[in-house]
Amino acid sequence: MKQLLFIALLSLNFVAMAGDVNNNASPQPTIDEKVEKLLRQMTLEEKVGQLNQYDWNAVRSKTRDALLQREIKEGKVGSFLNIDGAKAIKDLQKIAVEQSRLGIPIIFGLDVIHGYKTVFPVPLAEAASWDIEAIEKSARIAAIEASAAGINWTFAPMVDIARDPRWGRIMEGAGEDPYLGSLIAAARVRGFQGANLAQPDTILACAKHYAAYGAAEAGREYNTADMSLIRLWEVYLPPFKAAVDAGVGSVMLGFNELNGIPTSANKYLVTDVLKNKWRFPGFTVSDYGSFSELINHGYAADRAGAAELSINAGGDMDMQSRIYIEYLPGLVRNGRVKEDQINDSVRRILTMKFKLGLFDDPYRYCSEQREKELLLAPDHIKAAREIARKCIVLLKNDGRLLPLKKDIKTIAVIGSLADSKVDILGGWAAQGDREAPVSLLQALKERLGDNTAILYEPGYKQYGYTTDEMIDLAVHAAKQADLTILAIGENGNMSGECASRADIGLPHDQPKLADAIAKLNKPTVVVLMNGRPLTIKAVHDGFPAILETWFLGTQAGPAVTDVLFGDYNPSGKLPVTFPLVLGQVPIYYAQKNTGRPAPPVNPPWGTSKYSDVPNDPLYPFGFGLSYTTFEYSDVNLSADKIKMGQSLQVSTTVKNAGSVAGEEVVQLYIRDLVASVTKPVKELRGFQKISLKPGEAKNVTFTLTTADLAFYDNDMNFKAEPGKFKVFVGADSKAVKEASFYLE
Ligand code: GLC
Repeated sequence: MKQLLFIALLSLNFVAMAGDVNNNASPQPTIDEKVEKLLRQMTLEEKVGQLNQYDWNAVRSKTRDALLQREIKEGKVGSFLNIDGAKAIKDLQKIAVEQSRLGIPIIFGLDVIHGYKTVFPVPLAEAASWDIEAIEKSARIAAIEASAAGINWTFAPMVDIARDPRWGRIMEGAGEDPYLGSLIAAARVRGFQGANLAQPDTILACAKHYAAYGAAEAGREYNTADMSLIRLWEVYLPPFKAAVDAGVGSVMLGFNELNGIPTSANKYLVTDVLKNKWRFPGFTVSDYGSFSELINHGYAADRAGAAELSINAGGDMDMQSRIYIEYLPGLVRNGRVKEDQINDSVRRILTMKFKLGLFDDPYRYCSEQREKELLLAPDHIKAAREIARKCIVLLKNDGRLLPLKKDIKTIAVIGSLADSKVDILGGWAAQGDREAPVSLLQALKERLGDNTAILYEPGYKQYGYTTDEMIDLAVHAAKQADLTILAIGENGNMSGECASRADIGLPHDQPKLADAIAKLNKPTVVVLMNGRPLTIKAVHDGFPAILETWFLGTQAGPAVTDVLFGDYNPSGKLPVTFPLVLGQVPIYYAQKNTGRPAPPVNPPWGTSKYSDVPNDPLYPFGFGLSYTTFEYSDVNLSADKIKMGQSLQVSTTVKNAGSVAGEEVVQLYIRDLVASVTKPVKELRGFQKISLKPGEAKNVTFTLTTADLAFYDNDMNFKAEPGKFKVFVGADSKAVKEASFYLE
């Protein structure tokens, strides 16, 4: 007994000592504790300074540098955007850290949308890969390069769902579907932020533009968005929720109004949903000047009013409108804004700065050595080519013209887009290196060497303008050639911000050129370069082979030639519907059935149809061909009925019935046939990208849960309802096999 007592006393003693040891080295303060301690030291002006972001390009000038330095020293600048480079950033950071009263580091933001110096395919192209891993890797490399240049925050991913191809920023998102868009949003957040924001090669991500910016009426940039709450929650919010669930550290508020309230001061969206319901721990930032634009919206009477409405709605950081720094201290002193509201915004921003490790080492992102080593690193260039190939969609391949034989004697390459190193970067390449890109023409020359004669003719100038002489020269070249590659589409700056188009056909005279080449009836491959769906029925009818190559970035040329010559079998699928004619827009696969559904062929009077065109698009959502063919078995279900809370296995066998290996994106859609609100005829609920050797067959199984069947009813309750469902499995949103089951 005595021994036991002795051992017990001895062990107690150890615990006490450990406690003493611990007590001496008191536990590290948490980030929250550090933030509270700092907040208590801050004056009201210094707090508001953290909410103030300047555009370095907009404010920099000889005279203003001194003013800026003074404002930084006074702690009135929490963030800059549009400055990059380890040295330039370090110089500014030193002023803030070493010469301001509290030494709070600045956070430096930049639009690293799809790559920093190494440019990856535009986001809509990446969505066409349906390869979530590849998309995450692309963002990861962008973060590695941007952070090496001093950047700690990117204004990406843009997660706006877009169903109107007139809208230029459709290029910047993941297309029309919230299920695919949500997976991509989360993947890009993971890629940018990595596992630990304090790592020097990770950067804060920013889900934008919250919310429903892509629902701009008539596809006109910055235009009004107006919709039911059901549509908002079923279509436009899910990618933001996915980004928040993936841990995104910031959210950018939009330029648009939604249902009468500008999104930059929309308390319902920003405070009730984002911060309270979703418990978003990060901070919000306005879009460029959007807080002050409340006056244009007719929502604020003046700048003071705009500042009051923005901060009280939950807008934390003011990008470049200066209304926070000019008006918030006064608004607090006259009681129109509570200091607690300011404190909440400051906490959120300081918390992210601590998580980035900026307080531990404000210069951790400013290593000129890393900058030299990592920008345009060979493995980044290699990854850019591999990812770009996956984004290419084969739209047509009559007579198996593709892949091209390697012994072609003469090839005519027509179209100035083939010779462009800038357009292939798309409209949001920001700091993307302009020397590194490899054009299609250059890649063809490098691949074919002297074995094949290449006859190049620009065929048209910028924006599709051309002359009869240019067309004649192009036709002449095509006549001399065994094969023509016709590169047509948009210039890189014809999509992106403030680039809506009321006509989404080939620009200006390009159709004339295309028509002249088609009339030759010679083997021709069309290589499309564009940032949005185009109305290209004449191209579809006029040519045997069409590749959708979007804007593929630094390695566009090599990626396209890899596909042209069969080194890579195209596996992309459209993340947006291509309308037959503009008049069908908005057109998307998840349409409602209506009370008078029109049969696809010869729809009779009295059904939902047009008198002049069919309802069907030119190419449906999820469409993409391969150099091989895939055969689908019937759909098998693990049961013909399930109870609430149970799940259902949906399976099919896919066989590669062709002679070359290929990848297929097997898609799963559902339809809730009867519900308390009408439901779309199809909704994407799963996909798997599989690789199959010639002759190989694979069983593909999906698990459908009750949650996958849930929706918002008229009282905004999110739940599944009993009843009959259909499931569809196939190669795109139209080519599907179906089965049905009951949910009890
Ligand atoms: C622009 C864009 C936004 C971008 C911001 C900073 O107006 O709308 O996407 O991140 O300003 O450049």
